[in-house]
Amino acid sequence: MGLTVNGAPVALPEDPRVSLLDLLRDRLGLPGTKKGCNQGACGACTVLVDGMRILSCLALAVQYEGRSITTIEGLGTETALHPLQQAFIEHDGFQCGYCTPGQICSAVDMVAEARRGVPSHVTADLAEETILLDGAELRERMSGNLCRCGAHNGIIEAIAQSLETMA
Ligand code: FES
Ligand code: FES
Repeated sequence: MGLTVNGAPVALPEDPRVSLLDLLRDRLGLPGTKKGCNQGACGACTVLVDGMRILSCLALAVQYEGRSITTIEGLGTETALHPLQQAFIEHDGFQCGYCTPGQICSAVDMVAEARRGVPSHVTADLAEETILLDGAELRERMSGNLCRCGAHNGIIEAIAQSLETMA
């Protein structure tokens, strides 16, 4: 048994030391997911596992047997961009683009977390069933994704615009 990456079955690496990030980039040829710090500090390697965001540099591929992985390559296509991808373009949410795949994957689940009522450090009412994603919530919840180009204002504007169009 293996895992699924962007809807396609993939065999697990024989070497149990291979990280999920290295499996995606080096063995499957999916360079969209980026290696920034490789130690869990920057968020560049964020992917979705069964829809939930994780840092793939801190994950061993063999841990995810039977799970469904989605990378930036699985979120949209050149002719049918994901709403967040389109919004990042419209709001200058990137400069070099290195952090962008991780930002977008992270934002996809961040929105879902708020809709499930998962509180953040800045949530005032912990009993809210669905949490309103205002500027403070967006910045707090995206704080694990760093952008060395300083495009954070555009990133937040892009995510805010996308909230209504995301399923
Ligand atoms: S590369 Fe994984 S958090 Fe930086
Ligand atoms: S756009 Fe360059 S690191 Fe974010």
